Amino acid sequence: ITELPTDYTIRPLRRSDYSRGYLDVLRVLTTVGEISEEQWDKRFDWIASRNDEYYMLVVCDGDDRVVGTGSLIVERKFIHSLGMVGHIEDIAVEKGQQGKKLGLRIIQALDFVAEQVGCYKTILDCSEANEGFYVKCGFKRAGLEMAHYY
Ligand code: ACO
Repeated sequence: ITELPTDYTIRPLRRSDYSRGYLDVLRVLTTVGEISEEQWDKRFDWIASRNDEYYMLVVCDGDDRVVGTGSLIVERKFIHSLGMVGHIEDIAVEKGQQGKKLGLRIIQALDFVAEQVGCYKTILDCSEANEGFYVKCGFKRAGLEMAHYY
């Protein structure tokens, strides 16, 4: 397991991360839009009520500011004897914090959760530009997806 820098922590997303810069971290990934605290709370509660399906992690720096994030969504299937598939989504590390292995640590944590809950593989979609990152995280090109079979 990759070590985080001193004073950095990795933990589940909290409702209070709205004011710790969570949405700004997601803005390195794509457009987020203007989300009010009320809208945030409503979506957060919806996600939090599905805590065996949505696993959303954040990395915080020593000042408890959110600097990285990633999500795992566990899909329940009928095939493969009621198999479960992990879907990694919305991996983002703040610009000035990239290259410190935070992305790798987030993927390791999500991967660990997926295996623990019983997923037989975890898949994700990414651009060609990010293929090298996911290869370093242990994934491989699988058709049009990246996959990690357990
Ligand atoms: N191509 C090739 N190698 C890479 C890349 C890349 N784009 N990015 C990082 N690496 C390498 C690093 O050099 C490092 O290699 P090393 O172990 O030999 O030193 C290794 O991958 C781990 O890198 P980290 O330091 O953990 O990467 P970082 O914390 O910067 O996070 C990330 C990588 C998440 C891609 C970050 O650059 C980012 O947030 N980018 C913008 C948003 C984005 O594109 N997110 C991914 C979208 S796909 C999805 O969400 C499923």
